Amino acid sequence: MTNPIQKIKGFADLFEPESAKFTLMENLARDMFSRYGFQEARIPLLEKTELFARSIGTETDVVQKEMYTFDDRKGRSLTLRPEATAGMLRAYIENKLYAAGAISKFFTFGPMFRYERPQKGRMRQFHQLDVEILGTQAPQADAELICMLWNFLAGLGLKGIALEINSLGCKTCRPAFHDNLRSFLGTIDQSQLCPDCNRRAQTNPLRVLDCKQAQCKELLTDAPLITDNLCPQCAEHFTQVRRVLDQANLPYTLNHLLVRGLDYYQRTTFEFVSGHIGSQSAVAGGGRYDGLIESLGGPDIPGIGFACGMERLALLMPEPKPSAPDFYLAVLTENALARALQIGEQLRQKGLQGEVAFEAKSIKSQMRQANKTKARFALLLGEEELGTDTIIIKDMADGSQQQVAVQSLCENIQKQKMNQQ
Ligand code: HAM
Repeated sequence: MTNPIQKIKGFADLFEPESAKFTLMENLARDMFSRYGFQEARIPLLEKTELFARSIGTETDVVQKEMYTFDDRKGRSLTLRPEATAGMLRAYIENKLYAAGAISKFFTFGPMFRYERPQKGRMRQFHQLDVEILGTQAPQADAELICMLWNFLAGLGLKGIALEINSLGCKTCRPAFHDNLRSFLGTIDQSQLCPDCNRRAQTNPLRVLDCKQAQCKELLTDAPLITDNLCPQCAEHFTQVRRVLDQANLPYTLNHLLVRGLDYYQRTTFEFVSGHIGSQSAVAGGGRYDGLIESLGGPDIPGIGFACGMERLALLMPEPKPSAPDFYLAVLTENALARALQIGEQLRQKGLQGEVAFEAKSIKSQMRQANKTKARFALLLGEEELGTDTIIIKDMADGSQQQVAVQSLCENIQKQKMNQQ
């Protein structure tokens, strides 16, 4: 035997019950988000590298260290998307979806790729559920989006999730804060900072606040707070967002270090965190990115969004109850195979769930198979039943069985199911 090929490190194969959790998330997202007016979008997994460099920012870990980037056969640099916002905005601009001048709401989900060190809750291929609102600066939009995410997480049965929020200011107030932060960084012993922070202190000081290294965090405890440096418009915007959240009774904490790992954010940022999944605590994160659409070549349209990490949500979700199939149709004679297929089709058309044997086999082996599928009823079709257009229903719970006309089979199963409930 040749050696079997194994999957790539940090990538995963998903089967039930894990895959059922993903289906549950997708179904709830479709149902809930559409009730808020969001439309589902499907966008490419592969984009030009420049899109991510321009939106996420060249100084971020994602762009500097984590992208799956390669040249295609014509030497064009392409990247497997590390997140969905950049692609969503590229699609929005390219398809001129702003022409109507209205507010647009989209959601999408699928795999993302980041070359990170794999650990619990951190994969190289992971899945995000991404939501974006384009075309409004209203603080009400920020608050409603956060409320919707809250409802979504509660709808998945997650407990012990906490909301953290911050405001990162805008083009007007950020430069003064950068100067402030640089002056502060000038007062601390630079040799104590990690090499990345040392560089970023000059190029993009906000990124220093996002450093995960313990010694950098320690040195930053007295750093100036961005929320003390907001311009009046940003301060008012943040006050309004908080007012709506307060009135909605949505508890949150202010986290002044919540600058997020991507450079495109302005004003509101937020994360939902859990203490139950180790160091990878953020299950969802997002924020406002006014100015990004324009910097990607579109009109000056504001936006806000979030993404959930589906693997992290799956770690926290209760096990979904597997739904037992209604029937397993056992075929006891070759002659009955064609009729069995017809009966199976009729039952499924009437909403029942079950399998039909592909081959006629001994009753013993078919009952073993029926047991394996966890069906509630085994249906037995042999020579005698074929001749009288009947079938035997065997209740797998108590072993009782009865012979019924095929015509009344579905009603019979449904009645027995009702009686058992
Ligand atoms: P992000 O914070 O980079 O934001 O990612 C969002 C979520 O994806 C994280 O909170 C986490 O749950 C999950 N995630 C990120 N990396 C990994 C990984 N390697 N393995 C497993 N899960 C991971 C964004 O991506 C923004 N595009 C969100 C956004 C949308 N902002 C505005 N609109």
